[in-house]
Amino acid sequence: MEAGRIVTENILELRNVTTVFGSGVMENVANKDINLQLAAEPARIISIVGESGSGKTTVARTLLGLQHPTYGEALWRGKDIAKLGKHERSQYRKEVQAVFQDPYGIFNPFYKINHVFDMILSRFKLANGKNEQREKVEASLQAVGLRPADVLGRYPHQLSGGERQRVMLARAHLIRPKVIIADEAISMLDVAIRATVMNILLDFRDNDGISTLFITHDLSAAHYLGGDIMVMRKGEVVETGNVDDVLHNPQHAYTQLLLSSLPNPDPDERWQTDISQLAELERAAGVSDR
Ligand SMILES: Nc1ncnc2c1ncn2[C@@H]1O[C@H](COP(=O)(O)OP(=O)(O)OP(=O)(O)O)[C@@H](O)[C@H]1O
Ligand SMILES: [Mg+2]
Repeated sequence: MEAGRIVTENILELRNVTTVFGSGVMENVANKDINLQLAAEPARIISIVGESGSGKTTVARTLLGLQHPTYGEALWRGKDIAKLGKHERSQYRKEVQAVFQDPYGIFNPFYKINHVFDMILSRFKLANGKNEQREKVEASLQAVGLRPADVLGRYPHQLSGGERQRVMLARAHLIRPKVIIADEAISMLDVAIRATVMNILLDFRDNDGISTLFITHDLSAAHYLGGDIMVMRKGEVVETGNVDDVLHNPQHAYTQLLLSSLPNPDPDERWQTDISQLAELERAAGVSDR
């Protein structure tokens, strides 16, 4: 995707991935000949947009090793994800983290929020001793704008949806992955919290070298995050490239259609208005100084 740059090793790559569900009349080609490359460095953001059923989640699940392609290859650092040995698999799990739409489903309601972090600390052996553990957890909570004292002793249901989403981002941050795969991670959040989460992902990119694969229905979110965009339709990638180029000069009729379905067909106008409003809301809420 980035011509002219010396390509470092790809952390994740899809090579001609085709994924078929069912057979016969029930056959459904969820992904068709998908190619994607994410270099280990520098960190960047790739958004995947497209209508419902276009195959975005299938791409995410394939990169997370939850779905194996029917044809083609899904690679982590050049190795087939389906064939990783035990040690490699645990390294891959550390480097590629998921953040989903509704984090409530993966919190255990009977455990306090601390538990989320304790599990990660022991599983990935991230710190030596209680003090270092506490410091690291607090730093990750602060990185997502949460006050440790407000969050740690509470149960999942005692947090708002936006707070739970940020706890999941703090959890991901604690692991210091190379890539976060965020599938509709902001869809359920209100506008101000959406901006907060997107700013967190931009900070992760700039401060921690963490890339994000960001799946969304929202073209304005893809535009705000910058980087690259992949437009999917019916299992295929119809257009890909720098998000500014693609959205300002869409080549494919489907991308043009997606853009024209926005309330205001002039992307800049709508986005700038929205985003300055978002920034204002955020400042008012004291959650960002952007
Ligand atoms: N496990 C499965 N078994 C059968 N069909 C599936 C399975 N997972 C996905 N599909 C089908 O594959 C296609 C792509 O689904 P996918 O979830 O990747 O779309 P999506 O772009 O994420 O959609 P949305 O925006 O609604 O989340 C759909 O037609 C879906 O019904
Ligand atoms: Mg989906």
